[in-house]
Amino acid sequence: VPRRRAPTEYTPRHLADEILTLRSSLVGERKFVTVLFADVVGSMEHADRLGPELWHQTLDRFFRLLAAQIHRLGGTINQFTGDGVMALFGAPIAHEDHAQRACHAALAVVSAMQTFDAAFRERFGAAFEARIGLNSGDVVVGAIGDDLRMDYTAQGHAVGLAARVERLAKPGSVCMTANTAGLVDGYFELFARGEHDLVGSRLPVGVFELRGKGPLRTRLEIAGERGFSPFTGRDDALTSLDRAIELVEADRGLVVGVEGAAGIGKSRLALEFVSRCRGRGVPVYRAHCPSHGRSVPLLPIRELLADFLAVGSDDAPETAHRIEGHPVFEHVDRRIALPVALELLGIESAPPPRALTAAERLDCLSELLVALLNAPVDDKARVVLIDDVHWIDETSETLLERLVNAVPEGRSLLLLNFRPEYRADWMASAHYRELGLTPLKGAPRAALAASLLGDDPALEPLKKQIDRSADGNPLFMEELIRSLADTGILTGKAGAYRVVDPDAPIDVPATLQPILAARIDRLPDADKELLTMAAVVGREFEPAILEAIGDLPNDELHEAIARLESEQLIHTRSLHPDARWSFHHALIRDVAYRSVLQGRREQLHAAVAQAIQSQGAALGLRAGLIAYHWDAAGNRYKAARWRMRATLGVTNIQPTRFS
Ligand SMILES: Nc1ncnc2c1ncn2[C@@H]1O[C@H](COP(=O)(O)OP(=O)(O)OP(=O)(O)O)[C@@H](O)[C@H]1O
Ligand SMILES: [Mg+2]
Repeated sequence: VPRRRAPTEYTPRHLADEILTLRSSLVGERKFVTVLFADVVGSMEHADRLGPELWHQTLDRFFRLLAAQIHRLGGTINQFTGDGVMALFGAPIAHEDHAQRACHAALAVVSAMQTFDAAFRERFGAAFEARIGLNSGDVVVGAIGDDLRMDYTAQGHAVGLAARVERLAKPGSVCMTANTAGLVDGYFELFARGEHDLVGSRLPVGVFELRGKGPLRTRLEIAGERGFSPFTGRDDALTSLDRAIELVEADRGLVVGVEGAAGIGKSRLALEFVSRCRGRGVPVYRAHCPSHGRSVPLLPIRELLADFLAVGSDDAPETAHRIEGHPVFEHVDRRIALPVALELLGIESAPPPRALTAAERLDCLSELLVALLNAPVDDKARVVLIDDVHWIDETSETLLERLVNAVPEGRSLLLLNFRPEYRADWMASAHYRELGLTPLKGAPRAALAASLLGDDPALEPLKKQIDRSADGNPLFMEELIRSLADTGILTGKAGAYRVVDPDAPIDVPATLQPILAARIDRLPDADKELLTMAAVVGREFEPAILEAIGDLPNDELHEAIARLESEQLIHTRSLHPDARWSFHHALIRDVAYRSVLQGRREQLHAAVAQAIQSQGAALGLRAGLIAYHWDAAGNRYKAARWRMRATLGVTNIQPTRFS
């Protein structure tokens, strides 16, 4: 029997360091993750055939192969199961695309296994195959040991289901539950294997086989496939972009950054704008940075180059000839640029005349891209769009910076979309303009809600609730409504829904949960802790209460609040007479709240109730609120007393009797 392996043996240093540094803030949290189980088919027979020593060596190589792919995609291995592993994507650090990462890793393992299997067959005359199972659900991160061994408490059998669905996978294949499939459908090609009774789930579970990458790459493409919501508002932003392209046409290149939170509508705005440009005959080239992009350098650059050179993803070998004929190669050192370009595009070609260093290759690529960016075409302007720049890898970023610097010498509008956390030095350039997108307001916001939901008057209360939760974020609106339809709270067709259960609570949709959790996890420890406490207080909260229940001194507390405000997580409701703050989105509050474990949640609720009571002011008016907190703290006795006081009003009952 192979000795037990510790995760540290396989975890790259940087990841280990990151986890160990964040350890204290990660422990004891509920996380929505994708669990991956992989193991060897027929390991008993293999062990018999090979004998312990050889079998151990083989397994060791297999583990290294698994670990390499899992770590490359940001997963962590938290358990070796004898002849396989259990890995988590989205814990201990949240990733908004945990399910996609798990699928990429699974596919990468399957493909790496083919070479492994071939070598094994040759040597031992038997197949060496693995099975992989995926499931998405909640786990609680327990203690993280110095060797990175982590204890997880599965919630709702998230871990068990992944292990069970793995058993259903054919050798060499990957199976997932409907929980994961719902998060990755469209990005990957899935094959429905019907419903299965799995131990650990009351209801039969939909099982899907992962067949490969899907035709769609971005969330917006998937939204388009479902049918876009009618585009509303954003008149000012479109006007600014129109003016920018006019300036480029009249004079010279510009860089425009569109900045805004996840789901606010950056990609959609860009889509509307570039289709207007195409309509006017302005050529458009585009690329995007995939969410797991840091694991594979140069993906956006490769996509941009392919678009510049009009290379399709399923192009035939003769493409090489067509590329060779491209006029750009007359403006660069063709003997080097051509093989470098073909190599990046994954097209076979003769190697460059001499071996190039990484830096030379980068210089060559940047020269080529700048030539393509600024190639004069009848003096006409063009648009170059790079979406999701906040996910750009380092190498691509170096090239992006060179493109940005070259823009004034040509006639391109370089349009870059990114979330607020992305900042770069080139933003100080004189030819850079930034456009911030804020939540939809007023008529466009109401119009979007109406077009998504319909205009049945019975929808009104729900519409209000959705509006409050989404707070003008179009993605949040779309996803909330879609999940209400999925769960049967709404019936009928999109845009003409009827409400079945107007009082059903609105849950955070599974598609939004990871986006919000990843945003919270990026905060420094103290800020995250404060946000969590605020979430227990409620959608609105007063700093005084946070001061009473936490241990941050007043000045640090206010600094942390200011940082949370600049991260656009919270905003002031009122400053007088008492400062009150509110979460931007009810959804952020819900996600922060959900991550707190029951025990700690109860302690915090009790502390909040105490804190409000000891403020002593307007207790009669706040009796209902106090009762709510005692309830949530699990103290039914105190809750009942305060509820009684709430119904009686501020009469003759002494507050002291309730404390
Ligand atoms: N003005 C709008 N009118 C109607 N629908 C919109 C509008 N803006 C965005 N949407 C829809 O909202 C969803 C999210 O928009 P989009 O993908 O553009 O967000 P984003 O800002 O690019 O987010 P991310 O940072 O995650 O890339 C899309 O389905 C899009 O069609
Ligand atoms: Mg986008």
